[in-house]
Amino acid sequence: MTVFQTPEGFRLLPGYFDPGAQAELVKAVLDGVAASPLYQPAMPRTGKPLSVRMTNFGPLGWVTDKDRGYRYEPVHPVTGEPWPAMPQVLMDLWEAETGWSDPPEACLVNWYEAGARMGLHVDNDEKAVNAPVVSVSLGDKARFRLGGPTRKGATASFVLSSGDVVVLGGEARRCHHGVDRIYPGTSRLLPPDWRPGRINLTLRRVNP
Ligand code: SIN
Ligand code: FE2
Repeated sequence: MTVFQTPEGFRLLPGYFDPGAQAELVKAVLDGVAASPLYQPAMPRTGKPLSVRMTNFGPLGWVTDKDRGYRYEPVHPVTGEPWPAMPQVLMDLWEAETGWSDPPEACLVNWYEAGARMGLHVDNDEKAVNAPVVSVSLGDKARFRLGGPTRKGATASFVLSSGDVVVLGGEARRCHHGVDRIYPGTSRLLPPDWRPGRINLTLRRVNP
């Protein structure tokens, strides 16, 4: 039996954003999503749709489709418009928690509805391979899974709640991770006239 050892550079910051700060952040995110709508990405080659809907903020956005696969683009694949600006509070989070000399270039917005999940993967499309990845959870709770550098290694799972921040730096930057499931109806943060579920914001530096 292999025992899971938390990789160096992994940090979970529970309740980083208090309920008031979460509400302000959600407002900024929903404004951005209104301008830059969630779209349904597709896996490279197979074209199989992802269960998570996506958009981005910042100069670059992570996108995927059947023909051209995973990559960063300066414009929305459906509207052709540049991504909206990254909310200042996310720039501040990045600076405070990474100390990285350059600002994040991409904020991927993932929306999980009931039944959505994200398979184990390594974030591997950035040229800035050593810059940490910072992610924020908003809305329903989720079961996050963390593994090691190889797909077959031991994993551990834990629950992420609204307002939690995860930092993948150091060795954790090259570790597998994913979202097994969300727990529908466990948060009232997202407005009832919007969409229920979970929003995850992932901040990344793309260029060294
Ligand atoms: C991701 O790894 O891209 C998303 C993680 C999450 O939703 O918490
Ligand atoms: Fe990821």
